[in-house]
Amino acid sequence: TFSEAEKAAITSIWAKVAGHADDIGAEALERLFLSFPQTKTYFSHFDLSSNSKDLHNHGGKVLKAVGIAAQHLDDLDRALSTLSDLHAQKLRVDPGNFRLLSHAIQVTLAAHFPGEFNAVAQAAWDKFLSAVSSVLVSKYR
Ligand code: HEM
Repeated sequence: TFSEAEKAAITSIWAKVAGHADDIGAEALERLFLSFPQTKTYFSHFDLSSNSKDLHNHGGKVLKAVGIAAQHLDDLDRALSTLSDLHAQKLRVDPGNFRLLSHAIQVTLAAHFPGEFNAVAQAAWDKFLSAVSSVLVSKYR
């Protein structure tokens, strides 16, 4: 569960991301793939070159899902249920990779919103992205 202050930090930064989800998502993925090249193995069918259309398309999808989660902080399980099925049953992404993506998203937010993404906001986002990740790995077996 999230405190009111955490919810405010999550939704206010999401409001700034919302109009730029493709760009910010592409940058987060680029940081993920450069810093943690092993994560590229899941995306061998994508063009992973800097600023590619695939990075923008997929980055936008990922961040829009994060945005849906930000709007359902009291009900993440239900809001992310379909995505949870997909990642656990079909994609079978190694659960350790979710921390790496969460880190890449946070660095990207820090780079874009240095004023708003202060230490308190980062702590809230870290908690939020780990909650999202827990839902996405919850159906593994
Ligand atoms: C697909 C979200 C973490 C690998 C997707 C899709 C979304 C999404 C929205 C598209 C689903 C669809 O087309 O219906 C997220 C979120 C994550 C996350 C919110 C965590 C915050 C990861 C991680 C990996 C990963 C850590 C692996 C490193 C994939 C792959 C696809 C996918 C391989 C399919 C791509 C394609 O072929 O189109 N994810 N994801 N995801 N995700 Fe994730």
